[in-house]
Amino acid sequence: MTTPPLAAVIGDPVGHSLSPRLFRHWLEKMSLNGGYVPLRIAPETLSAGLDAMRLLGFRGGNVTLPHKTAILDLATEVTPRARAIGAANTITFLSDGGLHADNTDGVGFLTNLRQASPQWSTNAPALVLGAGGAARAVLWGLIEAGCPRIYLANRTHARAEALAKQFGPTIVPLPWDAIPSHLSDVGTLVNTTSLGMVGQPELQLSLDGIQSQTLVTDIVYTPLMTSLLHDARARGCPVVDGLGMLLHQAVPGFERWFGVRPEVTADTREHILRALV
Ligand code: ATR
Repeated sequence: MTTPPLAAVIGDPVGHSLSPRLFRHWLEKMSLNGGYVPLRIAPETLSAGLDAMRLLGFRGGNVTLPHKTAILDLATEVTPRARAIGAANTITFLSDGGLHADNTDGVGFLTNLRQASPQWSTNAPALVLGAGGAARAVLWGLIEAGCPRIYLANRTHARAEALAKQFGPTIVPLPWDAIPSHLSDVGTLVNTTSLGMVGQPELQLSLDGIQSQTLVTDIVYTPLMTSLLHDARARGCPVVDGLGMLLHQAVPGFERWFGVRPEVTADTREHILRALV
């Protein structure tokens, strides 16, 4: 008898991860025989932890903080998008003993926008707030979608400039106080900062001047409707919350390890939302 496929989410800490709940929901929904567990692995034992996982028969896993960048050095195959984003969130043990590292955050961001807002187009420039790890995935996604210009504003301007240098001329770094004068030009506005998240300060941003067809999205999903999204909705803008990105980034890994592509449905959202309230 063959053993059921096993996957994990690795991080430190890892107890807060919603991935086990999501993966088990899909396994159950599709009546698949498989397992998915959280594994706490300390940074200094990452390499040994991966060896142990391979030995125990894990097919792969999701990677969360603090391992998302360090894992690239241990991988034998890194996808171009993981290389561009500078981090991996999905790893797979290869039959030749190697380790494949991918990053599905950017594609999860894109798939979510396309599913939640089918009329969304990238004809107009975008404005991205923040220049951390999440911003890198969002920038990759917007470039992949063909966005002609992406304004990038960050509290620490030098970080925005560094990302512009890395991602190329599509990215135009913007001083934080220049945001208001660009709001009317953009077709997409994305908050990738932690501002507005439960326990964090609010994102103090007036949307005066924004056009009602501009799509506004936030990677924060606690709360689901951030002040930014509330304000945008009140102005008639289409809004997309951050939970969908979390759900969609998990799809490629699930398909790789369990052999079936799961669907992100209203039911999937409800199931995860119940763990957030
Ligand atoms: P992540 O990987 O989740 O993106 P991060 O790398 O810590 O996390 O980045 C957090 C982002 O939120 C950064 O763009 C940060 O701005 P700085 O680069 O200036 O630190 C932004 N951020 C966090 N707190 C902020 C605040 N109070 N005001 C403005 N921006 C803030």
